[in-house]
Amino acid sequence: MMTNVRDALTDATHRLGERVDAEMLLIHVLAKPRSWLIAHADDTLAPAVVDAYTALVARREAGEPVAYITGRRGFWMFDLEVTPATLIPRPETERLVELALERLSNETAWRVADLGTGSGAIALAIAHERPRAHVVATDMSADALAVAQRNATRYNIANVSFLKGEWFIPLQHQRFDMIVSNPPYIESADPHLTQGDLRFEPLSALAAGHDGLEDIRRIVSDATHHLAAHGWLLMEHGWNQGEAVRMLLRSAGFVDVFTATDMEQRDRVSVGCWSGS
Ligand SMILES: C[S@@+](CC[C@H](N)C(=O)[O-])C[C@H]1O[C@@H](n2cnc3c(N)ncnc32)[C@H](O)[C@@H]1O
Repeated sequence: MMTNVRDALTDATHRLGERVDAEMLLIHVLAKPRSWLIAHADDTLAPAVVDAYTALVARREAGEPVAYITGRRGFWMFDLEVTPATLIPRPETERLVELALERLSNETAWRVADLGTGSGAIALAIAHERPRAHVVATDMSADALAVAQRNATRYNIANVSFLKGEWFIPLQHQRFDMIVSNPPYIESADPHLTQGDLRFEPLSALAAGHDGLEDIRRIVSDATHHLAAHGWLLMEHGWNQGEAVRMLLRSAGFVDVFTATDMEQRDRVSVGCWSGS
């Protein structure tokens, strides 16, 4: 039986419960932009396309995230490569990028560090928007860094460098005007880790000890040795961790501490300025 674009999408939407997932998978198979689907709803799909699409829909039905199936996820102005070695960048993290850019004027050659860069999402957005800055991005995962490097190359972003290692270890004796991080921050016993899309993402990118603050604690305390006076630390965290993170920042000697909310008005990014003392 011949299948057209409209019927293929209707069937897949029914199976997946999400029209957007059905569309993303079909444009991936067809290698077309999303807008193409509207103008070509009546086009007949070749049997090989139908077979390939059916296979991808089955993977999504089994729970695999669309971004891992297509190998791509939009972030900021990029269509980033992602693999199972990287977290799938989230829209909430763009809030962290906005807060960082508000503190980095265009003219200065800022030194910025992005800890736990994953696909490179944050580092590449800052480096692209602030071409005079130099961004050093670290991760303990060599596989994630390889993806981040490919993303930098694809977008021709040269003012970023990548270093492998645990948090500040690759940055010994270096100080920065700004340190940004979206570290793991989920409690290790949180049942969500074994449900939905999170099941497919690297546990090392998600879980951070019994209270989810293990990595944030370490970053706050070590950041004091790696920030220039009046430098900024910006960290993404869970919606229920704002108060704890602000307390950690103040106890470590940060001033002008506040938490910014995401699009759903939930605590998402905490910021502090290093007093230098
Ligand atoms: C939540 S993901 C964030 C990825 C990316 N920055 C983003 O926002 O999409 C956390 C990242 O931290 C890295 N990571 C986890 N533990 C680390 C450690 N001890 N040292 C360095 N990187 C670590 C993981 O490999 C992962 O890429």
